[in-house]
Amino acid sequence: MTGQILLYGGRIVTAVGVERQDMLIENEHILAVGARLSGDAPQATRINVEGLTLFPGLIDVHVHLREPGGEYKEDIFTGTSAALAGGITTVLAMPNTNPPVTHRDTLTDVLAKAATRAVCDYGFYIGGTLDNAEEAARLSDAIGLKLYVGSSTGTLLVDQLFAQIAHLTRYPKDRIIAVHAEDEAAVQYYATRGRRRPPICAALAVSHVLTLAEQLERRLHICHVSTGYELALIRAARARGLDVTCEVSPHHLFLSTEDEQRLGALGQVNPPLRAREEVDALWAQSDAIDMIATDHAPHTLDEKTGALPPSGMPGLETMLPLMLDAAHTGRLSLSDIARRTSTRPAEVFGLADKGQIAPGYHADLTLVDLDEAWTIENEGLHTRCGWTPFAGRTVCGRVKQVYLRGKRVFADGDILAQPGDGHPVAQS
Ligand code: NCD
Ligand code: ZN
Ligand code: ZN
Ligand code: ZN
Repeated sequence: MTGQILLYGGRIVTAVGVERQDMLIENEHILAVGARLSGDAPQATRINVEGLTLFPGLIDVHVHLREPGGEYKEDIFTGTSAALAGGITTVLAMPNTNPPVTHRDTLTDVLAKAATRAVCDYGFYIGGTLDNAEEAARLSDAIGLKLYVGSSTGTLLVDQLFAQIAHLTRYPKDRIIAVHAEDEAAVQYYATRGRRRPPICAALAVSHVLTLAEQLERRLHICHVSTGYELALIRAARARGLDVTCEVSPHHLFLSTEDEQRLGALGQVNPPLRAREEVDALWAQSDAIDMIATDHAPHTLDEKTGALPPSGMPGLETMLPLMLDAAHTGRLSLSDIARRTSTRPAEVFGLADKGQIAPGYHADLTLVDLDEAWTIENEGLHTRCGWTPFAGRTVCGRVKQVYLRGKRVFADGDILAQPGDGHPVAQS
């Protein structure tokens, strides 16, 4: 028994295009990709994937799994199940849990929970606080550092310059600091005047953290960019030589303030949904966007329809279908999708063996039917929160099967993985 699997007849998405190719998998890794490989592997288990298009398993660098403390909205099992159902094979989880993941003990705790509960591969961020810069810098088993320079869901907030400088100077230069960039003073100023986080909040914070990163000579990752102005700031900093990367979330590409009347508090998110012109600006400047990340932020429908709705919306199960639909209508190419949801995230976070369909890489594969039109619905979602802001939208393109390191973990709506099948990612 060789442990070989031959996927034949499919179309494989690469950095440059889409090609009809076979793929030979041995145990956890891709052994070969090429035309008509069956002669090379007589003992392999043959699986016909004709009619399906194969993406490198998606890597979502911005996910809230809610464990510990928010298991009634989501936990590591339900969140990673939702990831697989959305074609996502690796999630990087945010630290704004309860308690937040800010020290050795809380990080060890979530890593131990994930080891027995996760069904996709994973990494966990350490959360910056006003006084943990030294400890955070030592925790090399965190995937990166998350800094909230403006407040959002949870208690994490590093709005003081002394602590921002401490983190930016102490955190290892080659590792990622991801920033929630909304200016806290501006958020408060506008809140007292009845305005929720207008674009100036993000503009001020992005400009501030870019200046810090440039002056302190360290790389930076900007989370959920929502305006063209932020992208312009990022472009200009790059032109001056700063190593800065950014992500945009699907809700900022596929929803706008025009959806707010319909969605009510379901559409409340930080940063907020933006005006149509701003959404168009993101699409127009999409070459400056390194990656698409869900910012999957589940809250229960009770919470969202209650008196003080929390900000955030789920996204794991809808990101790829929405992007496939956009590809269907010609707004982006399949290679663009692979690059922004897998290849680039793996590069930026240094995820070993991930991000491409090529020999030597993990056999993390997302198999989609590009031609299946279907209507997104709340029923059947794997996220525990049980709703999506995209319910009722008909899209073309559906996730059919998912492989994680050579094992089929999702097929036709069902999670086949066992809790603990997900592994911590290795960083190079
Ligand atoms: C996120 C959450 O609920 O954890 N909410 C949100 O509105 N995006 C926090 C965050 O990413 O800022
Ligand atoms: Zn955020
Ligand atoms: Zn988030
Ligand atoms: Zn490996």
